[in-house]
Amino acid sequence: MKILGIESSCDETAAAIVEDGQKVLSSVVASQVSLHRKYGGVVPELASRHHVEAILPVIQEALLQAQMDLKKIDGIAVTQGPGLVGSLLVGIAAAKSLSFACNLPFTGVNHLLAHVAAIFLSASHLDFPFLALVVSGGHTSLFRAESRTRMTLIGRTRDDAAGEAFDKVAKLLDLGYPGGAIIDRLSKEGNRSAIPFPRALLEPESLDFSFSGLKTAVLNWVKGKGEKPSPGQIRDIAASFQEAVVDTLVSKVFRAARRERTRQVVVAGGVACNSRLREKFSQEGESCGISVCFPPPALCTDNAAMVGVAGYYLFQEGSLADLTLNAYSRMGAGSASGWKTES
Ligand code: KG4
Ligand code: ZN
Repeated sequence: MKILGIESSCDETAAAIVEDGQKVLSSVVASQVSLHRKYGGVVPELASRHHVEAILPVIQEALLQAQMDLKKIDGIAVTQGPGLVGSLLVGIAAAKSLSFACNLPFTGVNHLLAHVAAIFLSASHLDFPFLALVVSGGHTSLFRAESRTRMTLIGRTRDDAAGEAFDKVAKLLDLGYPGGAIIDRLSKEGNRSAIPFPRALLEPESLDFSFSGLKTAVLNWVKGKGEKPSPGQIRDIAASFQEAVVDTLVSKVFRAARRERTRQVVVAGGVACNSRLREKFSQEGESCGISVCFPPPALCTDNAAMVGVAGYYLFQEGSLADLTLNAYSRMGAGSASGWKTES
């Protein structure tokens, strides 16, 4: 079964062709980063207008790279939410139009489920239920993944997402946008024990996260210096901040793994590209006999191959959408397939 995946939830317009949920025949991502850079963050109205311009060329390019046309496609999977509603609607309108015109079935995919589904392309063995952490610019959410299409939320950020904290700290240090990859690079030359930034572990049993206090601690440290930090200090701030984020994520996820008695952890989303995060999660996993896996970096940041994979498994269980499908910005309990909160 060949699926056309479409993703437009934030600032990437993406399309991919995925065969049987296993083989990526093409994956095209048109990033809007250069458009939003001068504002230091995503401007929703600009993002949706740009998706309108990019969506059809990106789909055409995905078909071209896979050397096929729409007649060879068996179904369409499109990100339904959570995300920017104006942006999501562009992908959804494209999916509906193609579905109607070519008489193809289509399905709506939860963006966070899609981030986790990226692992199905590379992991040789998965033991359900496993723990899945999605860390991105918009989300820090911890799930128990019960199957390839069902996840239960067991923890989430109460304020900033981890990627958002990376981007805001990079902005206050004047490093550029998006900040995650820049901080990752600078941290390699910094001292991660230079500044003891706080690790918000919240209540002893809590699996929730909080990163806004850490961001404020960085701001206060910089302000307290009274002068612009030197390049050496910037590298130390970056490394110490990154260490605090990674420590917090590692503590919470392994706390959850013990509680849930799972032997497998998947970390996905843009922040899962982070080199220190990969290193520390792998070390901690080895020391307590829990296997930790990450999708390859190109499948961690937003892409449509992950949507095609998630869509394949939704099609397998007959989860089809009709033309009334609508976008949603946030997920309420049970508001869409693939996701629920623990009550
Ligand atoms: O998954 P993604 O592409 O979009 C969302 O769904 O939000 O994630 C983007 C986020 C941005 O906040 C970016 O700064 C962060 O992922 N990111 C990183 C790294 N690469 C991307 N954060 C830390 N280290 C990285 N190497
Ligand atoms: Zn994402």
